[in-house]
Amino acid sequence: MVAIPGPSIIPDQVLSAMHRPMVDIYDGELVEVTQSLLADLATLARTSGDAFIAIANGHGAWEMAVTNTLARGDKVLVLESGHFAPGWGTMASMLGVEVEVLPGTLCDPVDPAALEARLVADTGHDIKAVLVVQVDTGTSVCNDIPALRRAIDTAVHPALFMVDCIASLGALPFEMDAWGVDVMVAASQKALMTPPGLGLVWAGPKAWEAYRRSDLRTGYWDWGPRADLSLAHYYRFAGTPPVQHLFGLRAALDLLFDEGVESAWHRHDVLARSVHAAVDAWADSTDLSLNIAAPAARAATVTTVMTSTTDAEALRGLCQSRAGLTLGRTVGGLVGRGFRIGHMGHLNPPMLLGTLGTIEAGLLATGATLERSGVAAAAAVIATELAH
Ligand SMILES: Cc1ncc(COP(=O)(O)O)c(C=O)c1O
Repeated sequence: MVAIPGPSIIPDQVLSAMHRPMVDIYDGELVEVTQSLLADLATLARTSGDAFIAIANGHGAWEMAVTNTLARGDKVLVLESGHFAPGWGTMASMLGVEVEVLPGTLCDPVDPAALEARLVADTGHDIKAVLVVQVDTGTSVCNDIPALRRAIDTAVHPALFMVDCIASLGALPFEMDAWGVDVMVAASQKALMTPPGLGLVWAGPKAWEAYRRSDLRTGYWDWGPRADLSLAHYYRFAGTPPVQHLFGLRAALDLLFDEGVESAWHRHDVLARSVHAAVDAWADSTDLSLNIAAPAARAATVTTVMTSTTDAEALRGLCQSRAGLTLGRTVGGLVGRGFRIGHMGHLNPPMLLGTLGTIEAGLLATGATLERSGVAAAAAVIATELAH
């Protein structure tokens, strides 16, 4: 079983939906599926704006967002809270955009006051966009997107607000229009429970205004023909559609909407708190600790566990080779300093308790003496939920 922070577990319903022969790509069922997906993706992001589906991963979604809204020499402000927003900035700089990073740490969310101060200082409004992740999958921090929007508004700054929800959409509350987000990016392979291969981008009215002055557009990423309903279905994808992936995503969104999006947010919250309780219990008698100290800033989709003397690679290797559990390695500035537990998408208590129980067995097998069981602590969190 994989417990990495994406790609995540694919439900049988999604796999079965993808296992089907080729269909017409100009007419019929597939066209209806695409229309329903674009509408439901907008509903999921809580926007009246447009959704785009590209044959891409998250990096492709990043590139689509940048190329459709910015011009050569424009400046963007990247809000650092780990590995991924700076990665988005690197992609932008390779496209000819000037990138400034608002420095952050590897264990805290972005500070809205620091954003506000930087934007107030930008009196000439040189900064054309602010780029941030909702969840940094490397550090497992969760940024407060409405608070960052308020900081932009308090600074009375016109920059576009672009948010990466690649590791959060479908698992954490997100309200594109109500929160004043202009561009949002996601991908199929995390809480959306679909194999890697679909990069997803949403654009609101301010993004379309920026589109008109952008000069980085390319034939593949350009929103224009993709949104032009007078063109054939083929052009929604700038070419041949990802047929089986579309059927898969349709099944995944059906699962999500059948459960209820808000119920899915709640399920992720309970499961995440049970992981945090487990790590806290192990922390009593080992060197393991949660990377994110403040409970409100912990992601509900991934947990980065720090180690100092415990050999995290040996633990991961043992879980993988002897017990069939694949845990995530640490990335970016945290490489070699711990491991990550992915808990997003198609996940329920037996699956998660199995993961935590296997980690606990791995800790015991590698010589740890545990005063408190992490599994018992996690079960107690889940029990409180079951009692309601
Ligand atoms: C928050 C976040 N942004 C961007 C990416 C990059 O996505 P991809 O690896 O699909 O290109 C990832 C990948 O894990 C991510 O977690």
